Amino acid sequence: MVIIGSFHTTMLFVFQLLYSLFIISYSMTNSMNLSSSPIIITKKTEDNPLPIQTLFKLPSPIPNWPPGEGFASGTIDLGGLELCQITSFTQIWATHEGGPEGLGATFFEPSSIPEGFFTLGFYGQPNNSPLFGSVVAAKDVVGEALRPPIDYTLVWSSESSKINQDGNAYIWLPIPPDGYKAVGHVITSSPDKPSPDKIRCVRSDFTDVCETDAFIWGEDANGLSFYGLRPTNRGIGALGLSAGTFVAHNGVNNTMPITCLKNVNGNLTSMPNLSQIQALVQAYSPVIYFHPDEQYLPSSVSWFFQNGALLYTKGDESNPVAIEPTGSNLPQGGSNDGAYWIDLPVDQAAKEQVKKGDLQDAGVYLHVKPVLGTTFTDIAMWVFCPFNGPSKAKVGIINVSLGKIGEHVGDWEHVTLRISNFNGELKSVYFSQHGAGVWVDAPNLEFQSGNKLVAYAALHSHAMSPKAGVVLQGNGGIGIKMETGKGKMVFDTGSKYLVVGAEYLGSEVVELPWLNYAREWGPKLDYSIDGELKKVEKLIPGFLKAKFEKIVRGLPREVLGEEGPTGPEMKNNWNGDENV
Ligand SMILES: *[C@@H]1O[C@H](CO)[C@@H](O)[C@H](O)[C@H]1NC(C)=O
Ligand SMILES: *[C@@H]1O[C@H](CO)[C@@H](O)[C@H](O)[C@H]1NC(C)=O
Ligand SMILES: *[C@@H]1O[C@H](CO)[C@@H](O)[C@H](O)[C@H]1NC(C)=O
Ligand SMILES: *[C@@H]1O[C@H](CO)[C@@H](O)[C@H](O)[C@H]1NC(C)=O
Repeated sequence: MVIIGSFHTTMLFVFQLLYSLFIISYSMTNSMNLSSSPIIITKKTEDNPLPIQTLFKLPSPIPNWPPGEGFASGTIDLGGLELCQITSFTQIWATHEGGPEGLGATFFEPSSIPEGFFTLGFYGQPNNSPLFGSVVAAKDVVGEALRPPIDYTLVWSSESSKINQDGNAYIWLPIPPDGYKAVGHVITSSPDKPSPDKIRCVRSDFTDVCETDAFIWGEDANGLSFYGLRPTNRGIGALGLSAGTFVAHNGVNNTMPITCLKNVNGNLTSMPNLSQIQALVQAYSPVIYFHPDEQYLPSSVSWFFQNGALLYTKGDESNPVAIEPTGSNLPQGGSNDGAYWIDLPVDQAAKEQVKKGDLQDAGVYLHVKPVLGTTFTDIAMWVFCPFNGPSKAKVGIINVSLGKIGEHVGDWEHVTLRISNFNGELKSVYFSQHGAGVWVDAPNLEFQSGNKLVAYAALHSHAMSPKAGVVLQGNGGIGIKMETGKGKMVFDTGSKYLVVGAEYLGSEVVELPWLNYAREWGPKLDYSIDGELKKVEKLIPGFLKAKFEKIVRGLPREVLGEEGPTGPEMKNNWNGDENV
């Protein structure tokens, strides 16, 4: 267990080191500075500039991180293939229709490549968000890790397309020499085949299997479409990473012509050490807003235990026991076999008190993980609420309270910050929502006080959301309401947090006993869904009853709240990728 406090003394202590780091990072940003690079902005259409015409920057500059090993040093070594991040681009082609929101997409050639590094592929992005991507360029350290393509195949051209476009596009697939693979396409504005020197192919042992990620653009359902890429094997310690390039892919052919990269030695030196984790949390820690009507707030786990939570044993239900502050008397390991569960205190007054949580005392629990070939750090921030309140539904224009449906004891939600290990920049954030969730890229996040992330916890369910408002989970105007809003109840996660898991740091982080408790944090439901539905349906117009019931019964178990949840370490995303 590591309690994080002030880091100013460390900052002073390492001033000299910081200074030399500053010199390095200064020269790096200077050579890769976007404002000084030949960016050609997409042609303006009518009076409305496209979102992509703005270059995204976090509200505040990225701070100088405290010194460590390889974190935020600008380059990452994959075991003989050294990478740097390129965010400087020259526009090659744009179309103003199709793609996300029908705004088209723009394709770029990476520019300002540092001495000794080579482009691996070009970059493409939908026009509906500010320009914010990056690709990697590579330097051959072992020798023989990179080779120019032997030729190119023209895979698509926009010549005969009747689309609204700036010039024509020709998309080329590099043909790699034997034993090498292409990790990106080249795109040109003339039909002439590009020079083999435009790009490098990568030796097969530095590549990994990949799949399509977000849709960028496509002409029609039957033609070729452009997608981002992500490695097929993801999660903690997985070695694959995308080069940031795109793939032109015909959905019918499952053979992916472009591959991902692989961190061959799984080198962890690019990961932040504890001082750097602390600085990252100070820079980005979410400010979580609870709904103005919320009655069930978070607490620390030890507060929950010390205020009367009880451990029940199957077959001995009449003898629940109090739980030690660290959970040291909870059964360790095993599986979620229903042999034990946690419940609120028996005494009615104590029960109501514990359900409300204690915002002042609440903290977040951090799990820090190397992902995407250790080119990124995921910081999963877990929030515990003693009680998840009942759900509310919307049927047409009618608001319906769902009785006890959705209620359960013990609620674990999280947000995950994905941070680049090249420079410590926040790239995207995952918001957990009832066992599922969404990734949101930095340009679409809300920030306050510099680069601190704003997150909203939904009324009663505490599902995390990047926006305030009402989202309906269902269809046809009928569904469960996820309501978020900026109330006065605010949880500043940066003020109280605890690193509870960072396997790569070895014995520096000691796991708390409650993390290793495999059973449920609440009892199985003590009400009947049928009974609750009957009560609720009395309020719903007859012709909508069947549809309403179908939607409620089709909800995931986490939303219905039929049983208490398991703890963070028992969830698939503790070791795996987030559930998307
Ligand atoms: C992080 O690394 C730096 C440089 O090696 C070192 O001075 C600092 O003490 C480390 N911090 C921790 C918490 O290990
Ligand atoms: C990890 O990479 C760094 C930087 O290239 C290198 O100095 C170090 O030897 C590597 N460590 C291992 C275990 O390969
Ligand atoms: C699928 O793609 C691969 C690589 O691009 C190619 O060799 C193969 O011929 C394609 N197969 C079909 C059925 O189009
Ligand atoms: C239903 O609830 C919403 C808040 O989610 C509120 O704005 C609206 O006025 C309510 N509608 C009715 C008919 O009460």
